[in-house]
Amino acid sequence: MTLDTPMAAMDRDEISKMRRSYGEIGLRESELNSNPISQFQLWLKEASDNPMVVEANAMVLATNSEDQPTTRTVLLKDVTEAGFTFFTNYNSAKSKSIEGNSKVSLLFPWYPMERQVKILGSASRISGADSDAYFATRPWSSQIGAWASDQSAPLSSREELEKHWAEFATKYPEGSQVPRPPHWGGFLVIPTMIEFWQGRYSRLHDRIRYTRDASTWKLERFYP
Ligand SMILES: Cc1cc2nc3c(=O)[nH]c(=O)nc-3n(C[C@H](O)[C@H](O)[C@H](O)COP(=O)(O)O)c2cc1C
Repeated sequence: MTLDTPMAAMDRDEISKMRRSYGEIGLRESELNSNPISQFQLWLKEASDNPMVVEANAMVLATNSEDQPTTRTVLLKDVTEAGFTFFTNYNSAKSKSIEGNSKVSLLFPWYPMERQVKILGSASRISGADSDAYFATRPWSSQIGAWASDQSAPLSSREELEKHWAEFATKYPEGSQVPRPPHWGGFLVIPTMIEFWQGRYSRLHDRIRYTRDASTWKLERFYP
C-alpha cells in the first residue's frame, strides 16, 4: 500500500544552494591525543554533551560483500582499546554481509559540530557471555522486540510484527528474566584506521588520520 502525499518537496536548485560556512575551531596535531581511541572518547563526550547533536552514539555502518556496499545506522554501545561494539540480529542482512566480508567502515556524522569520525576495521562477533551481559541491561520491551523481529526478512504487515511481539510478551512476561535470543548479539569492530574531520573556513577543513602501525598509531594530516 502506498500513499501519495501532497507535501512540498525540495527542488534541485534549492538543494544545490544549501551551503554553510564552517567555524574557526581547528585541529592541531599537538593538541590531539596520540591514542585515537582516547581522542574518540573525548569527541564522543563533547557530542553527547551538545544538545544540538541527536543520538551522538549513532553511527553509519557500511558493509561490503559480493561487491555491493550497503549502509545503515546502528548504535555504539561500547568503545575500548579493543574497538567499537554494536548489537544486532545475527540473521540480518548486515550480519550476513559481515560473514561474507568482515571489513567494515563506521561513520559518526556530528553535523551540528562540523565534525565527522570515519573508521575502517574488521568486525567479529563478541562472546555469548558479553552479549548476555548487555542483553540483560536492555528494557523488557526491547528484549521482547529482539525475539519478535526476524530482522531484514520480508514482513506481510505491521499487524504480523505486533502479533509476534505479543506472543513473546506472553511467553516472557514483564518482570521475568528474558533469555537472549540465540540470533541476537554484538559485533566488535577492531579499527585499523580512525580519521577525525573538523570543518574549517573556506573549505580548508582539518583532516587527521591515525593508521595502525604494529602496536602504535601513525598520525598524518590529509588534504580535505
Ligand atoms: C538511530 C538508529 C539507530 C539504530 N540502531 C540499531 C542498532 O543498534 N542495531 C540494529 O540492528 N539496528 C539499528 N537500527 C536499524 C538499522 O539501521 C537497520 O534498519 C536494521 O539493523 C536492518 O539493517 P540490515 O537489513 O542492513 O541488516 C537503527 C536505526 C536508526 C535510525
